[in-house]
Amino acid sequence: MTKVNAPEFVRHPKLIAWVEEIAALTQPDRIEWCDGSEEENQRLLDLMVANGTMRKLNQEKHPNSYLANSSPSDVARVEDRTFICSEKQEDAGATNHWTDPAEMRQTLNGLFEGCMRGRTMYVVPFSMGPLGSHIAHIGIELSDSPYVVVNMRMMARMGKEVYDVLGTDGEFVPCVHSVGMPLEAGQKDVTWPCSDTKYIVHYPETREIWSYGSGYGGNALLGKKCLALRIASVMGRDQGWLAEHMLILGLTSPQGEKHYVAAAFPSACGKTNFAMLIPPAGFEGWKVETVGDDIAWIKPGEDGRLYAINPEAGFFGVAPGTNTKTNPNCMATLNQNVIYTNVAVTEDGEVWWEGLSKEAPAGLTDWTGKPWTPESGNKAAHPNARFTVSASQCPSIDADWENPAGVPISAFIFGGRRADTVPLVVEAFDWVDGVYKAATMGSETTAAAVGQQGIVRRDPFAMLPFAGYNMGDYFQHWLNLGEKLEQSGAKLPKIFNVNWFRRDENGDFIWPGFGQNMRVLEWIIDRCEGRAEATETPIGYVPSYQQLNWTGSDFTAEQFEQVTSQSPEQWAKELESHAELFEKIGNHVPQALQARREQLVQAINVEKVA
Ligand code: OXD
Ligand code: MN
Repeated sequence: MTKVNAPEFVRHPKLIAWVEEIAALTQPDRIEWCDGSEEENQRLLDLMVANGTMRKLNQEKHPNSYLANSSPSDVARVEDRTFICSEKQEDAGATNHWTDPAEMRQTLNGLFEGCMRGRTMYVVPFSMGPLGSHIAHIGIELSDSPYVVVNMRMMARMGKEVYDVLGTDGEFVPCVHSVGMPLEAGQKDVTWPCSDTKYIVHYPETREIWSYGSGYGGNALLGKKCLALRIASVMGRDQGWLAEHMLILGLTSPQGEKHYVAAAFPSACGKTNFAMLIPPAGFEGWKVETVGDDIAWIKPGEDGRLYAINPEAGFFGVAPGTNTKTNPNCMATLNQNVIYTNVAVTEDGEVWWEGLSKEAPAGLTDWTGKPWTPESGNKAAHPNARFTVSASQCPSIDADWENPAGVPISAFIFGGRRADTVPLVVEAFDWVDGVYKAATMGSETTAAAVGQQGIVRRDPFAMLPFAGYNMGDYFQHWLNLGEKLEQSGAKLPKIFNVNWFRRDENGDFIWPGFGQNMRVLEWIIDRCEGRAEATETPIGYVPSYQQLNWTGSDFTAEQFEQVTSQSPEQWAKELESHAELFEKIGNHVPQALQARREQLVQAINVEKVA
């Protein structure tokens, strides 16, 4: 049996016993207890360069940066293979895949038995949230992938300090991960081991995560979607807080008034760009600062306001489309110390992806390792190609991004990718209406998950793939929280719906987006402060053209009409689709949301839509 040999900085008998148990099951050749040191990181990077998993990039252009190309069968989250194995199927709900936990444990025991043979099992201690803070949660990931270790080191607070916080009996979320490709004696490894059989499994009651067969992103970096969203959403339900798929940004006016907003968008809908927005010409003196780009944990503070923290320490962002115009802050963040996955590379080790520059450089190798020219007929970078980078490198990082008390939230913004129907911005009438808007949000699917792209699916709260329990109960949890805060006399954040993605008859985006979203953001803050006018429509309060600040813009009133018009026909269809979602979720859908839909049906039927 593999010797566990825990180092002296690990003083937690239960943890050591668990590592022994998993080692006995998975039978790795070696166990390495990670300490998060620079030396360890470099050694693993060197190891992956030597075995072909990684390539060291041009050190002048990309200091200390590396590129990994995954297996073509392992490029995105696998939602079909993601399971919430609660004791009762009803607690997972109709929007999650469920298998009886006893049956799933049997299946996984079979798969994990001997699955790390020929490999090293890394013990990766990590904290989601600032180390030692009362809101942080600790996880230990056991993984046979060195790629996971070096990525986790940037995405979470990873290292031996975590054991100081854990002490001898602290709580942690056990996370077991294997690429699912044991090596028999003498067998040569591939550069990106993974298995055709994939399972991403959560046991919400016992707060455990087991992931098999994938080495990629949210399937394998288990602190992110698995712990900080699926398991944390269950913790939040039980303890009265929220774990959300939201960016957090701070907005400071030229007068020095600062507000924070949290915004939920489905994967690959520009959360990183929005979080790092640079105000456009005409907004001199305004400042946007970044607290997080993907996940927010939100808790009521003693003053009754909602406070948000970013539990992550890094960005795992979508590279295609990112450039010095769409996101200059992000490009500056990527100056050094980056791990790229599935981007293209030039002969002299410079990275490239679609949208980085108009013209592709000559001599490119695509993400599959083949020579590439614009005539090749495929994308040079995979549409879900990623960068992993520490948040601390971001020039727009907010001074309070690691404040364990979090930042107070003035507004929640929910946005989908919709070619039509949903206007540029709508303010909800009240909390219940806001929860309705978030619950019924739809968005066109993207490359962040395996499956057909570009079809509208309902993605409640942008949490469809990430809620760790019944979606109807999740809606109720939001309603309960609002009611509780309202009763305590607290000022609730206002809730808004946005859509940056309306298209014209040629299929082109009408709204310029990116920095221009600042104009919508300013109106949102002014509404929170009671300073801006709005028009009441059946679906909520909306601004007229004159009510947005167009300084420095040539966006016309006609174009504004194109991105804000409300079509009764489209809305009638939209409401049918809301009904289908509610039907799917079933009897857990709160009565208040059913009633809100009925009201909307009435309002739209009498053709009150402007
Ligand atoms: C992500 C995602 O990686 O949402 O953030 O897929
Ligand atoms: Mn995400």
